[in-house]
Order: sequence, then structure tokens, then C-alpha cells
Amino acid sequence: MSIETLLCPADEAGVARAAALLRQGEIIALPTETVYGIAADARNGSAVKKIFAAKGRPQDNPLIVHIDDINMLPGLVSEFPERAQLLAAAFWPGPLTIIMPRGPEVADECCAGLDTVGIRMPSHPVVRQVIEASGCAFAAPSANLSGKPSPTTAQDVWTDMQGRLPLILDGGPCAVGVESTVVSVVGEKPVLFRPGYITLEDLERALGEEVELSPAILEKLAEGEVARSPGMKYKHYAPKADITILDGTFEQFKAYVEAHAGQDPACLCFTGEGAKLAPFPCVEYGREGDGADQSKHIFRSLRALDEQGDRVVYARCPRKDGVSMAVYNRLIRAAAFRVVAL
Ligand code: TXA
Ligand code: MG
Repeated sequence: MSIETLLCPADEAGVARAAALLRQGEIIALPTETVYGIAADARNGSAVKKIFAAKGRPQDNPLIVHIDDINMLPGLVSEFPERAQLLAAAFWPGPLTIIMPRGPEVADECCAGLDTVGIRMPSHPVVRQVIEASGCAFAAPSANLSGKPSPTTAQDVWTDMQGRLPLILDGGPCAVGVESTVVSVVGEKPVLFRPGYITLEDLERALGEEVELSPAILEKLAEGEVARSPGMKYKHYAPKADITILDGTFEQFKAYVEAHAGQDPACLCFTGEGAKLAPFPCVEYGREGDGADQSKHIFRSLRALDEQGDRVVYARCPRKDGVSMAVYNRLIRAAAFRVVAL
């Protein structure tokens, strides 16, 4: 079934239209500071189901619930643990999702059978206006078709979601560009489930204790190992091209690509390197060593490779620490974990 999709500016009228649709149990797409999301009233199970249908998302992958005020927490969580309070004070509103004990009002469909729920208070003015106007805490995954790179522009949402939902609000490109940092405070120790703009070091500083790194973040889960954050187990962020990450210097990278010229490869490289890699087609994804800049462009760059029709792609390797950890985490998934040490 195809429905008519309206793409409209995220102005006052757009926000009012989005809020009305959410209250009616519909789903809509909207910008956040991280990536674009598809929102549904988190207390309305049949509305939340529409998100899974529109994205083609597996039912066992839980959704994040978005709020615009701490006062919205009662009913959504059964407890607001002390560690969560510290993190909220340090990073909310902002790109941090905190996994907490689930409250009774969250629709089962959000939680995929878990007794926890991820809560985030975004900072983007449009999301905040829509939450305020609708009065809904809303579940919102990234607004891509399941398995595709997350969208960071309204146009990319349109490409994936046109005909699948009634409204896309256009608020321009996203400032952060990768999805929120996800941290769990339900176990004995705090655990980082997904790296983002807020880094491991940021979390440890705010909590005053060590934060465990979930093993799925920097490498492929071993066969039979259980992902503690279900989203980490899926093939993800993947363009159509076969990407291989080459871990080494620029000179080593260039030599490797030249040695494989017969494959007709393209390059996913750092800003300013494209001209030096001629005649190979290149997409530049941010300044070398600058995780925040790379985060902002990585998903658009992965989509650009597809738009160019590239089949074999060699990618420069980001650092694995700080904000770059988020980029490395997304890129190894896009590359199906193919990393060659040069
Ligand atoms: O920045 C973001 O977080 C964006 C924007 C739209 O807010 N949303 C987003 O949602 O990235 P999504 O559904 O694409 O990613 C949610 C991630 C998944 O990896 C999921 O497995 C994990 O968070 N997650 C959600 N609830 C969880 C829970 N209760 N326990 C463990 N992991 C959870
Ligand atoms: Mg996603």
C-alpha cells in the first residue's frame, strides 16, 4: 500500500500538522540533532507498529522514547536511577539515550520484550516543539529503511520513506550526523551500547567511574554471542557497494588502491584527499582526525557512493577513540567488518 507523503518545512504550520498526526496515532518523520527519526506516540501500540512496518524493521529491535522534560519520565520508567540523573544533568537535552527500567505506560511494541527502555531528551528545536505541541512522548528510530544508512537530510528520508508515511518535516541537515550515544545504567556497571557524539570519556567524567565498552562496538560479535543492544547485531548502515576499510597511512592507502585498479574501485577518503587519488572516483567524508566532522558527513557519504553507482570501495580508516569511535562503529558495519591492516 502506498500513501501520499507530504514533505514540508519544519515551520509553525508543519509542527502543528505533525503534532495532530501523532495525536491521531499516525507516524511522521522529523529532524533531530543526530539524524532524522520516524515518530509515533510511545503509549500507543498500534501507532508504534506502523514504524516497524514503514522501516521493515525486525520486531525484536527496541525503540528509543523521546521526551522534552524530566517531568515526562513518570510512567515511562519505573525508576530514575542515580547514574541516570547524573548523565541527564550533564548531557540532556542532547544526543544521549539512557537505558533505564521500563515503566508501565510504554507500549510493549517499543521494548521488544525487554524490561528496559531507552529514553532520550533531544536538543533540536523542531523535535522539542513537536513533543510540546502533541503532548506525546514519542518512540523514534532513525528514518531510514532498515539496513540503510541513517538519513541526515529530509531528501534522504524522502528517498527511503516516500509512500510509507504521511509527513516529513524538513529542518535542514543534522548537526551531529550519527545517532545518539546509548548507555545502560540498569546493570551493576554502566555500559556503553552505542558510541556517538557524547564519548566514553565524557560519560566516565560525568559518572566519576569506569564505563564498560560493549564488545559489539569495535568488532563483530562472535558466533553465538548475544548482543545486549539488539541493534548492534544487524547488518547495518550498508550501501550497495562492497566497502573495505584500509587501516594505514594515506601513502599506503593510495598504493593499495592503485594495486587494485583492475577492480575499478572508488575511494571513501578524508577531506582534501580526493584530488590526490585521481583518476579514482572519490567521496570525502570529513577531515582526518576530526571525529565530529566525519560524523556529520559519514551517512550522506555512504549514500553518495550508491548514487554514484560504485561497486568496490576502499575507505580510509577513522580513529577508534573519542567521537571517531562512533564513525568507526558505523563504518565497520557498512563494510561488513572487512578491515585490512596495511
Ligand atoms: O539519535 C538517535 O538515537 C535517533 C534519533 C531519531 O533520535 N534514533 C535512533 O533510533 O537511532 P534507532 O532505533 O535507530 O536506534 C536505537 C538503538 C538500537 O541499536 C536499539 O537496539 C537500541 O538503541 N536500544 C533501544 N532500546 C534499547 C534497550 N531497552 N536495551 C538495549 N538497547 C536498546
Ligand atoms: Mg537506526
